[in-house]
Amino acid sequence: MTGAGKRIGRTIAIELSRRGFAVAIHYNHSRTDAEEVAHECGGAPIFQADLAKVPDIQRLFAEVSESFGPLDCLVNNAARFTRFNPLDITEKDWDFIHEVNLKATFFCCQAAARQMMARGSGRIVNISSLGGIRPWAEHAHYCASKAGVIMLTKALAKAFAPTITVNSVAPGVISFNDVDARVQAMIDATPMQRAGKPEEIADAVHFFLTAPTFITGQILAVDGGLNDR
Ligand SMILES: NC(=O)c1ccc[n+]([C@@H]2O[C@H](COP(=O)([O-])OP(=O)(O)OC[C@H]3O[C@@H](n4cnc5c(N)ncnc54)[C@H](OP(=O)(O)O)[C@@H]3O)[C@@H](O)[C@H]2O)c1
Repeated sequence: MTGAGKRIGRTIAIELSRRGFAVAIHYNHSRTDAEEVAHECGGAPIFQADLAKVPDIQRLFAEVSESFGPLDCLVNNAARFTRFNPLDITEKDWDFIHEVNLKATFFCCQAAARQMMARGSGRIVNISSLGGIRPWAEHAHYCASKAGVIMLTKALAKAFAPTITVNSVAPGVISFNDVDARVQAMIDATPMQRAGKPEEIADAVHFFLTAPTFITGQILAVDGGLNDR
């Protein structure tokens, strides 16, 4: 479970642990938060890695398999989020988003899939975003990275079949007491008339981790109906 120290990742890790999964908790900077999640997950091990660095990803997956044996499941949750007018985005701003949201997601999938292929089965869930489906003008770079995650999910589902399923959960607005005017406008436009809860993302992740293996390459928007407006 990548980015498991805070917010959505924290809830997914705790919910999966409650439902019987042995969870490996990954963090980058949030060590104290990761330790708290580990405690709530019954003393699960924690693993540090900067996913912007591919050698760190390779070390992370080697450490996890040393501790757990080959992986059954991977949840790619870690991501970055920034807001810029596209006219102002620099190469550095672009790379900052893509090196984690898209490049790291791919190399985490690759590292996990090598272990899963060796053991003969596996499940991968990539957390994308409604922003990978619908265009957000001040997040063109983020939208492109998450649209990339969606296509990566579909392509890897084909590449890794029949051994591994690859699916994606695309959250809409999930709030953490950080609602500004722009986010409130999105909540107001949401047919279910509220923000989503991280537990609702965890439910969708759990579904893909336990669903029939005939379900692969799918994108599930958990967005209160905002996608279809
Ligand atoms: N919140 C929403 O409304 C929403 C909406 C749509 C999609 N999503 C997606 O849902 C997922 C979780 O969202 P969130 O809001 O909970 O995310 P978040 O708090 O912004 O980030 C989750 C974690 O990603 C990790 N991370 C970032 N850069 C990293 C790096 N270089 N190496 C390793 N880890 C890194 C961070 O770990 P550390 O703290 O340990 O550094 C962070 O705790 C993301 O994929 C996001 O794009 C969220």
